[in-house]
Amino acid sequence: MCGIVAYVGDRTAYPIIIKGLQRLEYRGYDSAGLALVNDGVHVYKCKGKVKDLEEHAKGKSISGSIGIGHTRWATHGEPSDNNAHPHVSQNGKFIVVHNGIIENYSHLKKELINRGYSFKSDTDTEVLANLIENIYLEEKVDAEIAVRYALTKVVGAYGLVITCTDEEDKLIAARKGSPLVIGVGEKEYFLASDATPIVEYTDQVIYMNDEEVAVINKDNLTLKSIQNDSKKPKIQKVSLSIDEIDKGPYEHFMLKEIYEQPLSIEDTFRGRISMDHSKIFLGGIIDVLPQITQANRIIILACGTSWHAGLVGEYLFEEFARIPVEVEYASEFRYRNPVINKDDVIIAISQSGETADTLAAIKMAKEQGATILGICNVAGSSIPRETHAGVYTHAGPEIGVASTKAFTSQVTVLTMMSMLLGKTRGFLSKEEYTHLVGELTQIPDKIRTILQADDEIKKISETYQHATNALYLGRGYLFPVALEGALKLKEISYIHAEGYPAAEMKHGPIALIDENMPVFVLATKDKSYEKIVSNIQEVKARNGKVIAIVTKGDEVIKKMADHVIEVPDCHEAVAPLLTVIPLQFISYHIAVMRGCNVDQPRNLAKSVTVE
Ligand code: G6P
Repeated sequence: MCGIVAYVGDRTAYPIIIKGLQRLEYRGYDSAGLALVNDGVHVYKCKGKVKDLEEHAKGKSISGSIGIGHTRWATHGEPSDNNAHPHVSQNGKFIVVHNGIIENYSHLKKELINRGYSFKSDTDTEVLANLIENIYLEEKVDAEIAVRYALTKVVGAYGLVITCTDEEDKLIAARKGSPLVIGVGEKEYFLASDATPIVEYTDQVIYMNDEEVAVINKDNLTLKSIQNDSKKPKIQKVSLSIDEIDKGPYEHFMLKEIYEQPLSIEDTFRGRISMDHSKIFLGGIIDVLPQITQANRIIILACGTSWHAGLVGEYLFEEFARIPVEVEYASEFRYRNPVINKDDVIIAISQSGETADTLAAIKMAKEQGATILGICNVAGSSIPRETHAGVYTHAGPEIGVASTKAFTSQVTVLTMMSMLLGKTRGFLSKEEYTHLVGELTQIPDKIRTILQADDEIKKISETYQHATNALYLGRGYLFPVALEGALKLKEISYIHAEGYPAAEMKHGPIALIDENMPVFVLATKDKSYEKIVSNIQEVKARNGKVIAIVTKGDEVIKKMADHVIEVPDCHEAVAPLLTVIPLQFISYHIAVMRGCNVDQPRNLAKSVTVE
């Protein structure tokens, strides 16, 4: 949530900041702003997107080779010009951009009001700007000391970049809970919430750790803890290419990412499956394999789409490895005093690796002695750094807010893990294991055939573009896919949609079914096929419209349903990877037809770094 970009060097900062903010807009897009240092500091900010900020800055002074920028996802205070970042302290000494939440801001604000401060915005960030300034002026210390001292008084999460008008040649950055990456160039530094705005200029980066403060001018960077202990910056090479973060020929990132799935799944299992399918090798968890194999229980923690992937994981682990699994929303788990044992294995699933609730939940479980694994997409992000071991998904950067390729890569990793454990624990025979691994490796080609049906799926989508409600039904492995299909539709097209286990329909949702209700049914040939056929009949008997995702060649459902979308035959355990693709397309097309902003749906953000 919220994107930060900053630059210090010899180039003009403005275009670097604007372009960087556009790359980070997926993190938040309700207002944007920047500050440029050039004989004083010029601040431009407004409600709206980065393109509105560009419009706002047109004709104004945009020179200067030091600057900070921000794109916002509102937490404290509605989206408005005043609440947009950067925030300037009362006497104009400090200019701050911030990602995160200062939890004790109202207490700090009261103290500052007692000291004569007044506030122009409703934000917690302005409180921080004034707190730093107050310390700076009263204690007569350097800007860096004032920042560090202020941060000792702050409760909450922050990624911060700060400039001080008395020390114009430098930027001060700090991190706790919200990510910050520093790009290291030749006599120049770039700062951003993730590496995407940086890779165009340098592949050398430093991932800041919690409670670190960096003081940066174009010639030098020093890293310290908030308590003033020196730290050695660890420069790493980031392997991210510009092509991966461009839309290419696609109209939207979401569409590009749907189409990337054959490749992102292949990338996820590449090098991890032997040629003859007799071996799965997950190097990231090899050291803790004994703990996982002997685990009494696996607890999967995640949010949003990643939680849906976790539900698929539950079916997979229980079926193949016979280990009991609980799948928990991280936000609930962390606040409900859960029972955690030392022989529990926790798996955190997160595309971004930054989701605040998931991060906090694993920290809590770690303190209680459990083994913590991560399934994350963004290398070097906070969750993988907190875990004992893990497996990266290698889906490449996912920029569309509605997750698509991250989901299928997460399910791919969970499938590999469950098979590996099943074999190690002796519940999968060599033949079953080899067969299943083969099924998984065929998925990319099978997805390619589904992608060819895009136009046909688009036509079906047209019929339902004006729906106000939709129901998604599935059983077994496909129940989580029903949840995911409903989530995709509601988040980008704003149509109310619910996912349900098909049998549960009779306990409520069936009351909603009439001729206006599209019901998307996941009905591929698996062990519940007969039952799902009955569920389709129940919907049709009430005049509901059925759009069924079926196995290629299914003539039975074709006769009953209003529309069918075929997917290739596969083992039921890998069916989520195929059946979710038509649902992604349907949401995408309906959202485009309804004129919605597919990549940046209202009120949402890609990376939820606040709880
Ligand atoms: C947000 C995103 C979703 C994502 C969820 C969890 O809500 O919009 O697409 O599934 O966060 O994010 P994570 O990065 O932890 O997978």
